Parts: sequence; C-alpha cells; structure tokens
Amino acid sequence: MGAALASDADPALFRKAMGSFAAGVTVVTTALDGQLSGTTVSAFSSLSMEPPLVLACLKRESRTLAAVRQAGVFCVNILAADQGELAYAFARSGCDDRFALAALEPGATAAPVLAGGVAAVECELHAAHDGGDHEILVGRVVSVRIDESKPPLVYVRGQFIKS
Ligand SMILES: Cc1cc2nc3c(=O)[nH]c(=O)nc-3n(C[C@H](O)[C@H](O)[C@H](O)COP(=O)(O)O)c2cc1C
Repeated sequence: MGAALASDADPALFRKAMGSFAAGVTVVTTALDGQLSGTTVSAFSSLSMEPPLVLACLKRESRTLAAVRQAGVFCVNILAADQGELAYAFARSGCDDRFALAALEPGATAAPVLAGGVAAVECELHAAHDGGDHEILVGRVVSVRIDESKPPLVYVRGQFIKS
C-alpha cells in the first residue's frame, strides 16, 4: 500500500485507517423514565439472523450508553443522506437539545424513532460486552421499518458523502 506504514499500531495512523472505512451513520436513541437520549453512532453492524441481532459500539463515557443500559431498549435510526445536520447535532457534546431538530414517530419500544431516516431497527438490550474504551451493545431486534425512497448517509475520511 502507500507510504504510511507503521510497525506498531500508531494511534493517529490507526484512526486514519479506520476513517477510510466508509460507514453508514445512525442515531442510537433510548428513553428512561420519559427522558430521551440519543447519540450519533457509525460503529453499527448486523450480527445474527437467527435470532435477529445487531451491535452498536458506544464510548464508555457516553450518556446514551448509560441510559440504554438502564432502559434495556434502544432504537438504531439509520440516517438518510439529507440528515447530516441531525448527525452533527446528536454528536455535539453537552448538547441537551438534540431532539429539537427531530420529529418523532411512535415505536414498538419506549425508545424514540426519528422520522425521515432510511430505516429504524428497534431493539431490546440482549448483552453488553467489553470493547476497550467502548462498550459493545448487542440488541435483539423487535421491530424494523424502512424507507427505500432515499439514499443513506455515508461518512468517510471525516466527512459525509453527498449522494
Ligand atoms: C459521524 C459520527 C460517527 C460517530 N460514531 C460514534 C460511534 O460509533 N460510537 C460512539 O460512541 N460515538 C460516536 N460518535 C461520537 C458521539 O456521537 C459523541 O461523542 C456524542 O457527543 C456522545 O453523546 P452522549 O454522551 O450524549 O451519548 C460519532 C460522531 C460522529 C459525528
């Protein structure tokens, strides 16, 4: 490959290499005693068909992670290409008004479903595993909805791809 090769996992190079992996963008939401939480997450993947499982990796210090662990449910809202602003709003640290930008739809669990995405995957918390400075949340899928009329939001090399 190109010029930048590291014999050990140089942190800056590791970050850059991972940033080269084009990823979809989601907002993971939950609700605890009526209080809504949500954060932008690109570390999301399908995991199993039978049973239907997905995984999402959240930073240990994430307030959303703490709320999901207590609530026991979460919704993975897969964003559409025109929802970049929403992705940034849900990533802004200390922003307590993240839901001001989002219209909500009723869902199968207490976790809020954001309107306007390409898909929403509603889950019960199945397991939580150690992932270094992140935690790996495994969700058992209880409901899914999709909107195939729009392209998904894609994030790579620190920016959203316009499609
Ligand atoms: C495009 C994008 C992708 C992100 N992906 C993740 C992720 O996969 N996991 C994570 O923990 N944080 C991710 N973040 C950062 C969080 O959204 C950010 O740290 C947020 O402030 C955490 O909020 P909370 O503490 O209220 O949960 C991402 C941010 C952006 C802009």
